[in-house]
Amino acid sequence: MSSIKIHIQQDDFSFQPMEIPLGIQLSLMDVLKGNGYPLEAICGGMALCATCRVEVLNKDEVMIEGADDPEMCVLETLPCYTGNCRLSCQIHISEKIDGLKIRIPAEILVN
Ligand code: FES
Repeated sequence: MSSIKIHIQQDDFSFQPMEIPLGIQLSLMDVLKGNGYPLEAICGGMALCATCRVEVLNKDEVMIEGADDPEMCVLETLPCYTGNCRLSCQIHISEKIDGLKIRIPAEILVN
């Protein structure tokens, strides 16, 4: 496997696929920003600001790892906390997230 595919839910609830090469040392936040999604990501990936948060729509269908303690401390402070909310800066690109479906909350996008 040389790449994975993730799916980003759009305003009309359709999914935009995105192919991501494996072997890059980037977070999902980096990849989303690099592909034109204007996440605020104010802290630059330090798990402090939550302005890179995404809702994972199919966590039971992929092998995504759970949040570690520092990420969980931030997630628990969010009104959106449902157990499906994650900081995209803490999700590393790997085969474990192949097939991931996410929604990016409109309120964190920079207009
Ligand atoms: S960029 Fe700040 S928590 Fe992810």
